[in-house]
Amino acid sequence: MYTLGEFIIENRDRFLYSTEDLLRLFSSIKLAAKAINKEVNKAGLTKKIGSSGITNIQGENQQKLDEFAHRVFIESFKSRNVVCGIASEESKDFIVIKGEKENPFQKKYIVLIDPLDGSSNIDVNVSIGTIFSVYLKKTPIQMDLRIEDFLQKGNKQILAGYIIYGSSTILVYTTGNGVHGFTLDPSVGTFYLSHPKLHFPEVEKIYSINEGNYVRFPNGIKKFIRFCQEEKDNRPYTARYIGSLVGDFHRNLIQGGIYIYPKTALSPNGKLRLLYECNPMAFLTEQAGGKASDGKKRILDIEPFKLHQRTPFICGHVGMVSKLEEFMNNEKK
Ligand code: AHG
Ligand code: MN
Ligand code: MN
Repeated sequence: MYTLGEFIIENRDRFLYSTEDLLRLFSSIKLAAKAINKEVNKAGLTKKIGSSGITNIQGENQQKLDEFAHRVFIESFKSRNVVCGIASEESKDFIVIKGEKENPFQKKYIVLIDPLDGSSNIDVNVSIGTIFSVYLKKTPIQMDLRIEDFLQKGNKQILAGYIIYGSSTILVYTTGNGVHGFTLDPSVGTFYLSHPKLHFPEVEKIYSINEGNYVRFPNGIKKFIRFCQEEKDNRPYTARYIGSLVGDFHRNLIQGGIYIYPKTALSPNGKLRLLYECNPMAFLTEQAGGKASDGKKRILDIEPFKLHQRTPFICGHVGMVSKLEEFMNNEKK
């Protein structure tokens, strides 16, 4: 059984940049994931559930674990000397990481992260996650970090993935050569390859959307939902939605389906964040043979203009996403 480290070394020719750097990036990610996993597992005992009393940059109620996960990831990346800057959903501005031991400008990687996704599910023991995304620094290596180093299109990602803290803890990633999942064996603290070459199944089975917002959805989305519920061909589809993007995505990746967070009358840009949530999930989607769209265009081609930008987000089975786009297009005519 391959460990994550062994798998990376075995597949070294597939990471275009440097196997050593990829191992160092994963060393930070694994360290933070294990620390968060430990805390998530005993959250009810250590008073880590509930609100931190702070409203984050998104205007949302920050949970204690949001804050904890944010700090753990920053510290973990700082300690490995491979990342020069991080932007986090939980921080207003990007964070510059300067090395103490070496020339700070040797580092060339940029990380964007949603440290704790699905935080409304922490207190009720439902799956939560972490989403991460890595880019090369865009400006010359000797230059101080600039906002454009973070505002890169999703198609420039060199590594993306998530960790799901669920019935087991699984790390899923892509470097552009397929999607692979590794399950944490907590007794030894090691991630082992458990889901090689993840691919959306051909079956059109599940649709995932917060239907409580139905009256606020665009007509194209309402029509698509009715299509999902129609008794015809292999429909109706099954509705599944837990409110953790990582959890909903992971289930659909394994069982087959579509995830939808559209714009609504109250949120014209949707809710999910392009840089921390949609781009990494879109990269994984495409690498797993699926499609990711904002309803009209490819997520990975969107030009970001600010760190905490939101976008409507639809991803999953190619045929289902294309069908939804068709409904959206027809509404405009
Ligand atoms: P986060 O906890 O990082 O703020 O993300 C929450 C997101 C996402 O995980 C989930 O799919 C979505 O919010 C759920 O939103 P609704 O409660 O509006 O359905
Ligand atoms: Mn999130
Ligand atoms: Mn979050």
